[in-house]
Amino acid sequence: MSVSDSGSATYSEALEGSNAKRGLWSSRLAFILAATGSAVGLGNIWKFPYITGENGGGAFVLVYLLCIAAVGLPIMMAEVLIGRRGGHSPVNSLRLIAERDRLKPAWRMVGAVGVLAGFLILSFYSVIGGWAVSYVGTAASGQLVGQSAEAVGAIFSNLLGDPMTLLLWHTVFMALVMLVVAKGVRAGLERAVSILMPGLFVLLLIAVGYAMTSGEFGRAVSFLFQPDFSKLSTSGILVALGHAFFTLSLGMAVMMAYGSYLPKNVSIAKTSIAVSVIDTGVALLAGLAIFPIVFANGLEPGAGPGLIFQTLPLAFGQMPMGSLFGTLFFVLLIFAAWTSGISLLEPIVEWLEERKGLNRTASTLGAGVVCWALGIASILSLNLWSDFAPLGSIAMFEGKTIFDLLDFFTANILLPLGGLLVAVFAGWVMSREAVEKELALSGPMFRLWYLTIRYFTPVAVAAVFIYNLM
Ligand code: TRP
Repeated sequence: MSVSDSGSATYSEALEGSNAKRGLWSSRLAFILAATGSAVGLGNIWKFPYITGENGGGAFVLVYLLCIAAVGLPIMMAEVLIGRRGGHSPVNSLRLIAERDRLKPAWRMVGAVGVLAGFLILSFYSVIGGWAVSYVGTAASGQLVGQSAEAVGAIFSNLLGDPMTLLLWHTVFMALVMLVVAKGVRAGLERAVSILMPGLFVLLLIAVGYAMTSGEFGRAVSFLFQPDFSKLSTSGILVALGHAFFTLSLGMAVMMAYGSYLPKNVSIAKTSIAVSVIDTGVALLAGLAIFPIVFANGLEPGAGPGLIFQTLPLAFGQMPMGSLFGTLFFVLLIFAAWTSGISLLEPIVEWLEERKGLNRTASTLGAGVVCWALGIASILSLNLWSDFAPLGSIAMFEGKTIFDLLDFFTANILLPLGGLLVAVFAGWVMSREAVEKELALSGPMFRLWYLTIRYFTPVAVAAVFIYNLM
């Protein structure tokens, strides 16, 4: 077997050993749980609806779905297969495969891009996670019951205007993430999530049900699914592509790390499709829950990052048992964000352990505290620094605060760049036999994937980049 000739026992071997007792299904399920735990998060419920609103709806959603199917899914398969082939942490997997095939170890770059992206993303992700923590209290204390759109909007603006409260909840969220990463108790949380994720799904369905009966559901459906290309700008296409990477947790070698735990006989294509379909389903449900409320209350679809916090609380305030459902919803949203946040911090901590020889606690503390401190810049850009646009003189970044810039730079530049490197690695650096053996697809399906990863994906990502720079 290919992984054993590196001379050390690997997790995938260990997993295969235990499969004999537990049966294959449980380890395939374990991978799907970890991967969906990482993929499904604030990207689906917070970010997807607000960027859809900002970019005019239908045409954006269509391009986003195309990006998931034609770019995201093939790259997810590439990440998983590199991880399983290498059988080690992403940096070492890439180095091992590259060395084994007599290729340059320069591919460690992919790991470095990932570590940087994880840092920057987690810093603001934790701030938004903090909003969710704050809304548990808001919903549970019954403050939302029977409120008007204005009152719900005021609750949100009060939160944004209060740096100390934001800092408190950002700290709580970051501490939750650091706790799990430091203790390495992922498995327990992932098992809990296998119950909580379906719970989140059910609550989203309840919110969609409410939106169907009380909101402007028809208008929302046509807003989301009737493409009007006159509303989609070039930068909208870049945002759609960037979000395909963000929402599927790609471009940061996270799926590569999880791939190293996947048993050899599990289909990479099928599991990747499962993860992508669940992830997309959650995002679309969130859109269907939110936009009917936007239209019924005369709110602005392009309201920005606060969109879900200005709409869902309104729905929970009006539906029967809304305080209960609202509280539960935000608790489950925290869990979804938590598992994603862990997958952002984990690669940084592993990198520190491997490269700097720190132990796990020290690595987690160091990385976590730096991330937390960077988060303060995002917090301030929501209030005291809200008019401060550091790169405002560049047309592309006009009016963008620090928070906007971090979001833009990571999702739309770093992650696609990481994904591009992964595609080139799988398509051009690895030997075709190795790739073909890992994927174990039928002939035509393999050729379709191979053509996509060698030509279509790199060209599409590069084209969107170049087009936006011009
Ligand atoms: N996919 C997560 C979300 O949608 C965010 C995330 C977690 C992520 N881990 C990642 C994004 C790694 C990019 C890379 O909320």
